[in-house]
Amino acid sequence: MENLLVDKYNVPVPRYTSYPTVPFWVEPLEDKNLWSQQIIRAKTSGKIKAGISLYIHLPFCEQLCTYCGCNKRITKNHQVERIYIDALLKEWAMYKQVLGEDIVLKEIHLGGGTPTFFSPENLTFLLNALLLGVNIHPEHEFSFEGHPNNTTKEHLQALYDMGFRRVSFGVQDMDITVQTAINRIQPFEHTKNVTDWARQIGYTSINFDLIYGLPFQNLDTISKTIQQVIDLQPDRIAFYSYAHVPWTKKSQRAYDEADLPKGDQKYALYQLGKQYFKEAGYEDVGMDHFALKDDSLLISKSNDRLHRNFMGYTTTNSEVLIGLGVSAISDVFYGYRQNVKTVEAYYSLIEQEKMPIFRGIDLTEEDIQLRQHILDVACKGKTHWKIGTLITDDMKEALVDMENDGLLIMGTADIAVTELGWNFIRNICAVFDKRMHLQKNANGKPTFSQAV
Ligand SMILES: C[S@@+](CC[C@H](N)C(=O)[O-])C[C@H]1O[C@@H](n2cnc3c(N)ncnc32)[C@H](O)[C@@H]1O
Ligand code: SF4
Repeated sequence: MENLLVDKYNVPVPRYTSYPTVPFWVEPLEDKNLWSQQIIRAKTSGKIKAGISLYIHLPFCEQLCTYCGCNKRITKNHQVERIYIDALLKEWAMYKQVLGEDIVLKEIHLGGGTPTFFSPENLTFLLNALLLGVNIHPEHEFSFEGHPNNTTKEHLQALYDMGFRRVSFGVQDMDITVQTAINRIQPFEHTKNVTDWARQIGYTSINFDLIYGLPFQNLDTISKTIQQVIDLQPDRIAFYSYAHVPWTKKSQRAYDEADLPKGDQKYALYQLGKQYFKEAGYEDVGMDHFALKDDSLLISKSNDRLHRNFMGYTTTNSEVLIGLGVSAISDVFYGYRQNVKTVEAYYSLIEQEKMPIFRGIDLTEEDIQLRQHILDVACKGKTHWKIGTLITDDMKEALVDMENDGLLIMGTADIAVTELGWNFIRNICAVFDKRMHLQKNANGKPTFSQAV
């Protein structure tokens, strides 16, 4: 039965870190003013007062992992660190002019690329400069992505001293054949060392990123990887479905598509991983995330306070996220913007004192309502609507079909996702994605990776 469902629901769907999703954004004109207006609108409607989140994209990596779908620049030249930091600070200064003096910061996430490409001294310099004149919320959450191959004790200590208590390590897979195929040789000892150091220093939350669906993975290799992961007891695990998008990420052509587990085979890897995580005391947060029972993500989920943004699931319920750096995305509730994707274009716009934005979207009232349904499904596994509102007959029909498949239970004006349904949560969110449905007929080209 489940295999039939995999065949049926294994269609391209987004991960819903935004709605409308990125392919629907447009390249805006005279954006600086429009964007400032949206920020001011968020400010006047009280969405900034409670505290904002800051995402900082640090794009450099020393070596290319061929599977990688992130925005990165491969270089061994560390002179770039100070130049890039200088540009980030200029971008932040532009935002501060619009946000005003009384900024309260609730969350910082350093993503990449590889934040630990930067030296501990340069990271400290960057953070001190960013935080100058900014109020830090008493319940702030500062986190970063660390590559186990180059995260040092000094990195961990320097960021701890700046208030960081969460770290996410990219583990991906422990098998040497898989690691060779993805050009990422990462001995178990590296992962163990960084995990031990983080604990000794006092980090309270360690996440591991794993991926299923990589070349040469099979039930045997994934079992061994997961056993090793469980031995290290991370507090959280992101178990991502490999996103194969060779039409935009050419390095993914480095391996043969025939070596990728697909469809049922790929789903079996996920199912096995999930089973092992559950046996080891991890619970499903939703959309490929697991956490130990007492983790704040699960506590927030059970209190219906879980939130989702570009950084994935978060307990920090801030409605405004400012993204700084190459390709970074900002979300100010009424609109999204994304920065230019190359370091050169970014530097050039910053030098001209322009917001380094290249695309975005301002939300309609309908978008705001549909986004709430998608967020409610992804974070709470349920949503309800007022009868006669924007839930169309087509949407209802799709939901009834999913109810017949056992993915959800439908009431007169609400749904509740079942345990089985959590495996297909992206598909359930997609029912509310009106923009995707409207576009589907016009364009057959794949834009998103497969759901499974
Ligand atoms: C910016 S990277 C992590 C930080 C650091 N650069 C590293 O590699 O350890 C963020 C995460 O995205 C995930 N990721 C990257 N490419 C992916 C893909 N094609 N499909 C699924 N997940 C991917 C990986 O799990 C990775 O750890
Ligand atoms: S997976 Fe991480 S280290 Fe590898 S290329 Fe992507 S961002 Fe860089």
